[in-house]
Amino acid sequence: MEKKILFPQVGGFLHGGDYNPEQWLDRPDILEEDVRLMKKAGVNSATLGVFSWSVLEPAEGEFHFEWLEAIIDRLYQNGIYTVLSTPSGARPAWLDAAYPEAMRVDRTGMRAHHGGRHNHCMSSPIYREKVARIDRKLAERFGSHPGVIMYHISNEFSGECFCPHCVKKFRGYLADKYDNDIEKLNAAWWTAFWSHRYNSFEQIEPPFTNGETSVMGLNLEWKRFTTWNTNDFMKAEIEVLRSVTPDIPTTANLMRLFGGLDYRKMAPDMDVVSWDNYPTFHNDWETLADTMSETAFQHAVMRSLKRGKPFMMMESAPGLVNWQPVNKLKRPGVHRLACLQAVACGSDSVQYFQWRKGRGSYEQFHGAVVDHIGTDDTRVFREVAEVGELLRKIAPAAGTTVKPRAALLFDWDNRWAIDDAKAFSQASKKYEETCIDIWKAFFRLGADMDVVGSDEDLSDYNVVAAPMLYMLQPGTAENLKRFVERGGQLFATYCTGYVDKEQLCFLGGFPGDGLKSLFGIVSEEIDSLYPSDRNGIVLEDGSCWEVRDYAEILRVQDAQVLGTYADDFYKGTAALTCKECGKGRAYYAAARTAAEQMEPLFEKMLTDAGIPARKLPEGVECHVRSGESGNYAFYLNSTPEQVSVSGVTGRELVTDVNVEGVLTLPAYGVAVVHSGCN
Ligand code: GLA
Ligand code: ZN
Repeated sequence: MEKKILFPQVGGFLHGGDYNPEQWLDRPDILEEDVRLMKKAGVNSATLGVFSWSVLEPAEGEFHFEWLEAIIDRLYQNGIYTVLSTPSGARPAWLDAAYPEAMRVDRTGMRAHHGGRHNHCMSSPIYREKVARIDRKLAERFGSHPGVIMYHISNEFSGECFCPHCVKKFRGYLADKYDNDIEKLNAAWWTAFWSHRYNSFEQIEPPFTNGETSVMGLNLEWKRFTTWNTNDFMKAEIEVLRSVTPDIPTTANLMRLFGGLDYRKMAPDMDVVSWDNYPTFHNDWETLADTMSETAFQHAVMRSLKRGKPFMMMESAPGLVNWQPVNKLKRPGVHRLACLQAVACGSDSVQYFQWRKGRGSYEQFHGAVVDHIGTDDTRVFREVAEVGELLRKIAPAAGTTVKPRAALLFDWDNRWAIDDAKAFSQASKKYEETCIDIWKAFFRLGADMDVVGSDEDLSDYNVVAAPMLYMLQPGTAENLKRFVERGGQLFATYCTGYVDKEQLCFLGGFPGDGLKSLFGIVSEEIDSLYPSDRNGIVLEDGSCWEVRDYAEILRVQDAQVLGTYADDFYKGTAALTCKECGKGRAYYAAARTAAEQMEPLFEKMLTDAGIPARKLPEGVECHVRSGESGNYAFYLNSTPEQVSVSGVTGRELVTDVNVEGVLTLPAYGVAVVHSGCN
């Protein structure tokens, strides 16, 4: 298999982060010291220019790139490569003063004042023009510099704009989507309800707070449009850069399972997926192992946006952050653990926000590799340098990938539709939490899972969990059937197959679109439970899973009943079923139960799929990256105690010793065990 190393220039993993020399231009001594310190920390990359617009172009049309050139040169001469960012994430004051339309309009119709960041209109022609101009100039000036290895587009795209430009574009988007036929839109949005029929696309407004919010199709289409328009903005930036330097890869830094944008629609337009990882370490509501496993889920989301390719962890905090409710320090050793987890899950970079703490403004107390104290003899600096050293040791693993045989289906459309549905119990819908809990349950059984869209090719997988797949995309039902028939083990739950992609309910019984025959059941009613209500699912072996929040009442057609309700007027009726279809099985859990209670079922699914469950000691996780240089099993110990893991064989790269049988991990320890080639 071809090894797809992302950064041939560095010959391994990228280690570095956001660097803001523009804040220190009057301190050449500090800028020089930065290079010395970067080398000492094993840093081989710096992300430059993220919010540099007002220094790059201090007045309209007056460009000052010489300072940036000097920095890029000096870094390169010292073996440090540049990830060059476009500055569109924050606007200079002159721009908003001259072109107020660049400032966003909120859901009430009010235009924002100048300030902050990540708040530009995505449609404004003049803003796009100004962005394209500076992007082109940056690419022309720096694109052929041997030190520039990647473009970073804007920063953390997010938010919506309700300005006249955006409204007009929304109408155009809808007209395209519905073939210029308003009656198609009326049918899709069910507008005969409450007299909501439109006569023309010109009558459509986005869902203003004091406007139309009761048409589900409109609400969802606005979210889809916001993704489409943001992506269009990103693509416009990428096109300019590619027209000058087509060979420099592009990325945009994403934010975990962010609710505002459907990242799956954006990923194909960037060359590499990257994301910003800020877990709430050592909080008072979960164990560190829980925080780590949730983070592993988020890494899996990113990994799965471009399957079979490494992703990047573009930002993480070297020490603490400054915006969480409590900004707690990472305990000694936890930095290394978190960095190695990113790599274990498939990242080819460990990057930080930020290299050096600024003296003033909003992020003056945000953690950095170099603190206000300014020296390298700090705990944080030493831990960062240790990561630099570690990444060098495991460099041959760069370019390898994690290839799970299990997947969880997660769709942004589905998330938005569930959240907006006037149904169930508003407070306990919890689609994301349900997905994460089920993902974690499989993870505890040793199964790494990808997180993929319901209409994606599932042929890499033998086990698929599809919790609460309320909305079926065209083709999803066929996809699931194919998966089961060829031998897949499928797990689905209550709230499956209620609506189509327009949010119109399926007629003839849920789950619709032919899924009734896959599961052998029809869901006739769904009961929403008050927080203190409980029911149970009694299984064949007499054990009982506690039920909360939701319980569907089923008609069983030709499924086998594995569990029945313990209580209420539907006591004794089917609550957990299984149907064999072709070579596989389709399970249906009609009620919400804690994911850990379902582990025995998940274990059976894994076993039947030929993926033996592997239960590691509490708080230990394992991910395997593989490629032409062999397999790399990453073991991470999230507990403050030493633990032993049995059944491990190979060369351990952190300590450089052979392991034959038992691997000992110190407190918060990490190990990378290399074994045979594929
Ligand atoms: C985000 C941004 C950075 C910085 C960090 C702070 O990820 O991209 O510019 O503000 O948060 O944690
Ligand atoms: Zn706008």
